[in-house]
Amino acid sequence: IAEVKGGGDEGLGRVGQSLSVTGWVRTLRSQSSVTFIEINDGSCLSNLQCVMNPDAEGYDQVEGGSVLTGASVSVQGTIVASQGTKQKVELKVHKIILVGKCDSSYPIQKKRVSREFLRTKSHLRPRTNTFGAVARVRNTLAYATHKFFQESGFVWVASPIITASDCEGAGEQFCVTTLIPSSHETADTSIDAIPKTKGGLVDWSQDFFGKPAFLTVSGQLNGETYATALSDIYTFGPTFRAENSNTSRHLAEFWMIEPELAFADLDDDMACATAYLQYVVKYVLENCKEDMEFFDTWIEKGIIHRLSVFEKEFLQLSYTDAIELLLKANKKFDFPVKWGLDLQSEHERYITEEAFGGRPVIIRDYPKEIKAFYMRENDDGKTVAAMDMLVPRIGELIGGSQREERLEVLEARLDELKLDKESYWWYLDLRRYGSVPHAGFGLGFERLVQFATGIDNIRDVIPFPRSPGSADF
Ligand code: 4AD
Ligand code: MG
Repeated sequence: IAEVKGGGDEGLGRVGQSLSVTGWVRTLRSQSSVTFIEINDGSCLSNLQCVMNPDAEGYDQVEGGSVLTGASVSVQGTIVASQGTKQKVELKVHKIILVGKCDSSYPIQKKRVSREFLRTKSHLRPRTNTFGAVARVRNTLAYATHKFFQESGFVWVASPIITASDCEGAGEQFCVTTLIPSSHETADTSIDAIPKTKGGLVDWSQDFFGKPAFLTVSGQLNGETYATALSDIYTFGPTFRAENSNTSRHLAEFWMIEPELAFADLDDDMACATAYLQYVVKYVLENCKEDMEFFDTWIEKGIIHRLSVFEKEFLQLSYTDAIELLLKANKKFDFPVKWGLDLQSEHERYITEEAFGGRPVIIRDYPKEIKAFYMRENDDGKTVAAMDMLVPRIGELIGGSQREERLEVLEARLDELKLDKESYWWYLDLRRYGSVPHAGFGLGFERLVQFATGIDNIRDVIPFPRSPGSADF
């Protein structure tokens, strides 16, 4: 359908050609001896209007009421210029085959339903205009991500999902349990010694991995090992956080893009993040025109214009200057503003939306106490070479830093934080054997999809959202 309906002339050049399409019926209406069926196949937002007279093969099924909204059909016909005003071309049907009937209880009817309601129908919501468009834009952003990094010479690295380390040190990890029936015999494990869980299952995780194992919160530490061998790498995969925050920007399972650059400092890192974001935003505006116009009309008015402003240079500001700015703001915040405290989303939104009128802002050099152990200490001894990129509506889209590459400084920092140096032996090895300045960042992919589409709740930009209290489907 995209081939016929897409592009400026909407398939006028193909008038007279025959076409065979398969898809799902969106609407159906009959007028005396003509029936109009709108079909969508997911290739684009537009439906193809199919016009049918009683002489079309298979018309009896339409007449008999077997072809309803939601049914899957296969249609053959000729492309003709449309008499209607809504489309330039339509399909004059010669033959229709009902592939799969649709029960009349089908919940996705023509009338508009709320996105909250559709969240309870994750299996059917991709058949709506909004979720179809989100899926295509998400796909294009993923493709553009690989395209950007591949064209810039980065190597894609698969970081593990199961890990023994807590990259961010925030204790927000999901624990991996390995359950087996208690009757299961293992060669060298005394099952009796392992605690039993409900239903006669035993948890032998500790035996399986030899130590507690978790779902990864970030692929960064593993990414660093490959960057210090292959120079520039990126990871792009699922990450997990057991933070109990029921907000429109947090998921328990989300995808992260984490580039890591060797022989690079914080300025190189910020330049990479800026170039990446400019590239993918431009790519989606150029390649998802129809879907983006849909978002601009129905989801967030003016989003196309607002996104195209991103071609300009991004603003930069130190954390210390950001605190100054917030203290001077003529505004009452719910959370306190004080040097040494982390910025809350209300502060982040004030900075990008109000202070800088909708431009992306990068804040750098945060106090070391509020950042992770691996960030490189600045010469002032108080701050680290960290950066967060803030964008309007979303707040933090990217978090990154230059990494501490000096062995003694990193060891001292681990001691200071009472972290177990032994368990970081391999991470410290990278500083022992040919250490280099290196830097990277993590971008929350769902926040990027939210940002590009204007969809306000993060649960609506991932096919199957996982958040506190919700892990259906
Ligand atoms: O700022 P964060 O915690 O940084 C890291 O994990 C670093 N290890 C990244 C790196 O330097 N390689 O997370 C990075 C980004 C955030 O800016 C945000 O966009 C996203 O990940 N993010 C979440 N997205 C959805 N749901 C959550 N619960 C998220 N937590 C973080
Ligand atoms: Mg962060």
